[in-house]
Amino acid sequence: MKPINVGLIGIGTVGGGTWTVLNRNAEEITRRAGRPICITAVADRNVELAQQITGGSARVTADAFALVNDPEIDIIVELIGGYGVAKDLVMQAIANGKHVVTANKALLAVHGTEIFTAAQQKGVMVAFEAAVAGGIPIIKALREGLTANRIEWAAGIINGTTNFILSEMRDKGLPFADVLAEAQRLGYAEADPTFDIEGVDAAHKATLIASIAYGIPVQFDKAYVEGITKLEASDIKYAEQLGYRIKLLGIAKRRENGVELRVHPTLIPAKRLIANVEGAMNAVVVKGDAVGTTLYYGKGAGAEPTASAVIADLVDVTRLATADPEHRVPHLAFQPNAMSNLPI
Ligand code: HSE
Repeated sequence: MKPINVGLIGIGTVGGGTWTVLNRNAEEITRRAGRPICITAVADRNVELAQQITGGSARVTADAFALVNDPEIDIIVELIGGYGVAKDLVMQAIANGKHVVTANKALLAVHGTEIFTAAQQKGVMVAFEAAVAGGIPIIKALREGLTANRIEWAAGIINGTTNFILSEMRDKGLPFADVLAEAQRLGYAEADPTFDIEGVDAAHKATLIASIAYGIPVQFDKAYVEGITKLEASDIKYAEQLGYRIKLLGIAKRRENGVELRVHPTLIPAKRLIANVEGAMNAVVVKGDAVGTTLYYGKGAGAEPTASAVIADLVDVTRLATADPEHRVPHLAFQPNAMSNLPI
């Protein structure tokens, strides 16, 4: 069957992982998608590195707009992050009738309503599994697996950097600054690590979880955001003595009059499963009225775990883009259509 053509923008850690996994598991992925998914073009500032990774199997350019304006490309994968150029590229891709797969939580949390509205008007999909909790399929779980449920609340460790810092401070008694430097060295932290430690990255992700869980527009500006910078090693020690762990949680909760959306350090009884999520791992607990409490655990960052989510979206988008458009319409609810008017 005719391949679906993908333009990959950004072949850094996650982009490189996406290239590797898509090639390594090509046979299974093609079978599951129903047709081959081919990265035909790659845009990256570092053309030489992109050429080295792709080994001549894809066209390489430094001009990302050349990809979004290329009529041969069906899906754009945006992995450069940030709100600036990334937003222009995504909007241009949508305007050109291309589907978009992105890991850019900041972009969607802040400009999601504009992006999803444009996508809906154009009849294209914007998929973002990789934007929340890396390799954990939490968007899919909320959108599909738990679709029968009224979601009561979702709470998660959705920033690996801060969980790594809190774990190392507790286990090794190391000071905050030293552990942050280590998290940066290991590649967990955002380009601007204040997004991690001030809770902004977790709030971006919690905003997306709330949108999907409650069918509300993305409203990052309404989130209460508190990071871990005010915590000291002694806080962690005293919590431990009282039988608690301190975790930075992103919480979305249905209340009588609306939705609560908050990120802050939380005391959790040490015997709870989520209290024992250590290092850079992520975990999300979701309570639905029918299913009860469910727990999703896995790697929230890194090349191949995040690539796993990017490719899951590529497969979904390929299947739906290939389906009869009449049957495709309901699936445009990849995006958090404003189905409810619940205020945050
Ligand atoms: N900086 C993020 C984290 C990367 O630490 O979880 C994945 O979104």
